[in-house]
This record gives sequence, C-alpha cells and structure tokens, in this order.
Amino acid sequence: MATAARTSRRRPHRLPPVFSRIDHIGVAVEDIDAALSLYGDSFAMELAHRETVESQGVEAVLLDVGEGHVELLRPLGPDTPVGKFMAKNGAGLHHVAYAVDDIDATLEKLAAAGLRLIDSEPRVGIRDSRVAFLHPRSTGGVLTEIVEPAGGH
Ligand code: CO
Repeated sequence: MATAARTSRRRPHRLPPVFSRIDHIGVAVEDIDAALSLYGDSFAMELAHRETVESQGVEAVLLDVGEGHVELLRPLGPDTPVGKFMAKNGAGLHHVAYAVDDIDATLEKLAAAGLRLIDSEPRVGIRDSRVAFLHPRSTGGVLTEIVEPAGGH
C-alpha cells in the first residue's frame, strides 16, 4: 500500500478517466414480465424503455435508478449470446456498462492499453446508443460494455 502511494506521487501526470459513470447493469432473465414484478413493483423502479434489439438477440427493458439503469435482457433464442450465457450460468448478473462521451476514442485507448475487444467497432444498442463489449478474459471475468448514449444521455 505505502509503496503504491509513493509510486503514484512520483507520477504527476495521471491519466484522465476513461469512463464517466456506470450507465447500467445488465441482468439476464427468463421472463421479462416476471422480472418486472420484482424490479418494477417490489423495487419500485420506473420503467423507462422496452425494445427488442434483433441485432443482439434480446428483448430488453430499461428501468431508472437515479442517473443509471438496470437493463433486463431476455434472450430471443438459445443461439443468441445471452441465450448461450444463460445455458451456462442461468439467470443473473450479465454485464456492467460504463458511459463514455466518445466511444470511438475510448475503444482506441482501450485497444492501445492492450485490452481485448469483442467489438472493435461500435454497434447500435438500445435507444439508439452506440455500444461495444470488452472481452471478459481481459477484464477479470466481468463482461464489460461501454456505451455512448444517443443525444448525450
Ligand atoms: Co447493456
């Protein structure tokens, strides 16, 4: 600990932060409506958006939690990425998503830092956001998404 503190004091030029905030956590569910009775009713989170994202093979719902969201994901079939995840791990926590202002610049920085990317180019996510996933093998087992929200939110 003391060594780390000394080391960081010797580095006056700290890197700027890459992520601005946690945008959402993704939760894989078997049944969106059953999940809504927990998140919408018991947890009283406001339903913000519901959409089928064919390109990602999911039906997705966003619920508001302060500035962030919970994203419920129901796979459209067993051969989709979330379907395969659920076959292996069951329902539960799937990914964490960090908001960024400029996803192209962030992807370049992360690639330059040696992180393995699932998406080297951003793709269209929920609510017309631009998203990209980092490989869990280079993020300590946590599937990590970065998201540039549409219209800056
Ligand atoms: Co997500």
